[in-house]
Amino acid sequence: MNYSVPQPAFYIFKCQQSAPLGMPKPSCVSQASAESQQLFMYMAQSLMQKGIISTVQPIQTGCMNRCQLGPVMLVEPGHTMYVDLNKEKIDRIIEEHIIGGNVVEKYVIPAEMWGEPIEPKTLVQH
Ligand code: FES
Repeated sequence: MNYSVPQPAFYIFKCQQSAPLGMPKPSCVSQASAESQQLFMYMAQSLMQKGIISTVQPIQTGCMNRCQLGPVMLVEPGHTMYVDLNKEKIDRIIEEHIIGGNVVEKYVIPAEMWGEPIEPKTLVQH
């Protein structure tokens, strides 16, 4: 089969989970923070303005279990989790990581909050 749309170079998974006002649990989209509500659209518009939306696919997701560090987004490939996001950080991530190919280390989740992935085969029960 011949697909006219090539596979993306990157997927950006942006957590869009929101909690009602007054909920003790933090969430990546907060009713108390207008900026947190705008970040997904801001990122998508930036990708469009730069003309790279055809190869960088923004995806809205639910909670990725790093709520205390939100707003968060995961860049694939590379399994890079960016935390505590705002518009300025998203600008830099697009310029330096997505376009430039260099992970913006200072915005990456601390290693102790991320760790190494657990291989599924080590958990499979027979
Ligand atoms: S609400 Fe975004 S990681 Fe949990």
